[in-house]
Amino acid sequence: MNTAVLQEEIMRIKKENDVCILAHSYQTQDVCEIADFTGDSYQLSVKAAGAKNKTVIMCGVRFMAETVKILSPDKKVILANPYAGCPMAEQMDVELIEDVKKHYPDYTVVAYINTTASLKTICDVCVTSSSAVKIVKRIENDKILFIPDCNLGSYVASQVPEKTFKLLQGGCPIHAAVRPWEVDEAKKLHPNALLLVHPECVPAVTNRADYAGSTAGIMDYIRHSDAEEFIIGTELAIGQHMQYEFPNKKFYPLSKSLICPNMKITTLVDVYNAVKGCGGEEIVLEDDVRIAAQRCIDKMIELGK
Ligand code: 13P
Ligand code: SF4
Repeated sequence: MNTAVLQEEIMRIKKENDVCILAHSYQTQDVCEIADFTGDSYQLSVKAAGAKNKTVIMCGVRFMAETVKILSPDKKVILANPYAGCPMAEQMDVELIEDVKKHYPDYTVVAYINTTASLKTICDVCVTSSSAVKIVKRIENDKILFIPDCNLGSYVASQVPEKTFKLLQGGCPIHAAVRPWEVDEAKKLHPNALLLVHPECVPAVTNRADYAGSTAGIMDYIRHSDAEEFIIGTELAIGQHMQYEFPNKKFYPLSKSLICPNMKITTLVDVYNAVKGCGGEEIVLEDDVRIAAQRCIDKMIELGK
């Protein structure tokens, strides 16, 4: 089977089997094309909450599939490739954060959505990169313990200077690896390009961006910009999708190392097997974990509106 035939088959079977396919924007173009919804992690969680189908397939990483299960407990939720994890989501566990909380009892614990379902059970509210600033501003408490990403945390802190932040040393190994000299290099090579950066990058990179925001934020910025050239400081997929949408504009990666292997492990064949019901991994969460984690995500959706 070639790509087009495989895509046609997936479209046919997913209709037959009442399946909704969600794909994070870091997925490859062939996977995004067969999805019912694509977007950043916030948009996908909102779509998951409203999906009518009895089965949802997540083409993304494990915490995203867990979020779908938390919001839609009666649906069968399948992670298209069971090996797709997020290293940042696995950096901190319940034991560590319980301990940290003891030192900051009057802080509101804000968890980036890139955390496990079990860690969410002991946090107060979730945020995504697109909703973090808005939600943190709306939290009544002015003391914020932000986990696990210190880079996103310091970006949010810079946007909400009226609050006090405690950050821990977690982060995305892919975005945090981008070095400030790569900004110098890219700007020298492409002096007319705008620099668009995901706030998971270190502050020395994010501070030099013309725009910093989530994957959806970066794509929207491009759609509304008259500029012809962009340096993309997030996973390579974003520049590639934008190249399809705007073939006459130029997109340059900020760094060649901006490839998330976990996001790239899902193939069209994985999706094909998952829609047929013979691939992927069904996400199962204990009721107590699901219910406690849901509080945190519901709060995110309520404050993020
Ligand atoms: P978004 O919130 O922009 O979708 O980012 C998710 C992610 O994993 C970024 O690395
Ligand atoms: Fe996790 Fe980083 Fe990959 Fe996003 S890009 S899924 S934060 S490892």
